[in-house]
Amino acid sequence: MARIILGVTGSVAAIRTPALYSALRAGGHSVRVVATEPALYFFDPAELGPGDPSGGPLYCDADEWPGPRYRRDDLVLHIVFRQWADLLIVAPLDANTLAKFALGLADNFLTCVFRAWDFARPVILAPAMNTLMWRSPATRRHLRQLLDDRGDGRAGDSWTLDEAADVFARHSPRLVLIPPQAKRLACGDVGVGAMAEVATLAEAVRLWAEQAPQP
Ligand SMILES: Cc1cc2nc3c(=O)[nH]c(=O)nc-3n(C[C@H](O)[C@H](O)[C@H](O)COP(=O)(O)O)c2cc1C
Repeated sequence: MARIILGVTGSVAAIRTPALYSALRAGGHSVRVVATEPALYFFDPAELGPGDPSGGPLYCDADEWPGPRYRRDDLVLHIVFRQWADLLIVAPLDANTLAKFALGLADNFLTCVFRAWDFARPVILAPAMNTLMWRSPATRRHLRQLLDDRGDGRAGDSWTLDEAADVFARHSPRLVLIPPQAKRLACGDVGVGAMAEVATLAEAVRLWAEQAPQP
């Protein structure tokens, strides 16, 4: 059993959040969902169910800023979450949050969790976006930045976007890239960009969670 943060961003693939959440819970894991504001457009939080005794299941930016004013000893939630979690999976990871991760921006709950993350613990990224967004030079630039920051420094620069997941596996094993798949996308375009299947993501979590320290 692992403690998992499921980060969800504003891709249409966020409609799969209840299914992914259920699959992770079915694996016996404790799961907290941290959603960006755009992500909340795509799924009904009621479909997540009640969560587990450790809290949750859904957290959003408003939870970081309970107001009306910070008081000494109030919790800094993104740090509390980072301390709690064994594993972070961001699925779907949209183009915007990928760019923020690469740049180190920390302007919402999820990007603060990522910026504060202890990279000795695994992070799984599952991008989802329109084909031309995926094929944009910005995508490779941002993935390369993450590799530069978190990899072994030996990835070089000769890899293609189609090889990115393998390059991450070889040079940054705890930062797992689960590549998008090719299919007809929600927007009607056909090509690479759809988030990997829920079963694929749940299996990746299962493999990494086995290595999490037991409580
Ligand atoms: C209906 C709709 C679907 C979208 N789907 C995607 C998507 O699949 N991938 C993506 O990168 N952006 C998508 N976007 C754009 C993001 O929601 C937008 O960039 C947003 O600012 C992302 O914010 P976030 O990264 O904080 O969640 C979509 C927007 C809309 C309105």
